[in-house]
Amino acid sequence: MAEVKIVEVGLRDGLQNEPAMLSAELKRELISRLAEAGVKHLEVTSFVHPKWIPQLSDADLVASNLPDLPVTYRALVPNRQGLERALKTGVDEYAVFMSASDTHNRKNINKSMKETLPVLKEVVDLAHQEGKRIRGYVSTVFGCPYEGEVPVKTVAWLCEHLLQMGVYEISLGDTIGVAAPQEVKQKLNELLTVLPASRLAGHFHDTRGTGLANAYVCLEAGVHTLDTSFGGLGGCPYAPGAAGNLATEDLVYMLERSGVKTGIDLNRLCETSLYVQKHLNKPLPSKFLKSYAAE
Ligand code: HMG
Ligand code: MG
Repeated sequence: MAEVKIVEVGLRDGLQNEPAMLSAELKRELISRLAEAGVKHLEVTSFVHPKWIPQLSDADLVASNLPDLPVTYRALVPNRQGLERALKTGVDEYAVFMSASDTHNRKNINKSMKETLPVLKEVVDLAHQEGKRIRGYVSTVFGCPYEGEVPVKTVAWLCEHLLQMGVYEISLGDTIGVAAPQEVKQKLNELLTVLPASRLAGHFHDTRGTGLANAYVCLEAGVHTLDTSFGGLGGCPYAPGAAGNLATEDLVYMLERSGVKTGIDLNRLCETSLYVQKHLNKPLPSKFLKSYAAE
């Protein structure tokens, strides 16, 4: 298997759905610890409305105090206002996001899909003018909590639009963790007829325990960028019942055991997850973490 790029999203996707509010100081410490464990791509926060996601209301502070480490720092920006906030900080690159189903899109960012596209285009253009790279997320690719099945044609249409806008990569979100491997294979096969594998990433929430198997299907299909969160932190506050992302530990273990070097030190990563677990006052779901803690 070729090189795999792991994008650590726990500090954003993970913390946005945890009831506990961590301090900006603790977040900075976690960033350093994750980098010391070998994480190279780190999504640190979101410049969204603080009332919509209070857990990340310290985005400006966190992103203005990023440790000077060999890490690419990324943050979510929903609109021009979010980008303008982000541009004042030390974040290296950004990500826009929307859903492939109208109802989830409205619940999440208060607009229809059609209304969202020009908002994102403005953000992408402005980011490019500032010399910044920008990623695109498409949510509800494998199912919407409000509308059920989402046609793969809609996903392809949206991905093509976003690529034309100039995002460098699209992360395909299984927002509510419903996908199973056979379906991921089929949908990817269809998407890959119009989109290059090198421009796609997999973002699997592990709600029903299929995250790792789905990630493996992505790798076999040539999609070598995967989003994960340490300990398996995470969810989406506007997708009821959505659980955390596929745990970074579980993916790293599978890859290393299969001979793929990730550059991530599993022991250090687990120590970081155990540390955050204490602050959140709840056990994190990563399977590998549980076995590590039991040893
Ligand atoms: P809105 O209420 O429609 O915004 O929210 P608006 O443009 O009408 O403005 C209303 C007020 O919000 C104004 O303030 C604006 O200034 C302010 P007022 O005049 O009333 O005082 N405002 C902002 N303030 C700070 N930062 C901003 C901003 N924009 C407007 N950027 C908005 C629209 C997008 C802001 C809101 O819906 C929002 O913040 N949503 C975020 C939801 C979210 O973060 N969801 C989770 C992330 S997505 C996800 O997790 C999925 C993913 O992981 C992939 C997957 O798993 O599928 C990526
Ligand atoms: Mg997510």
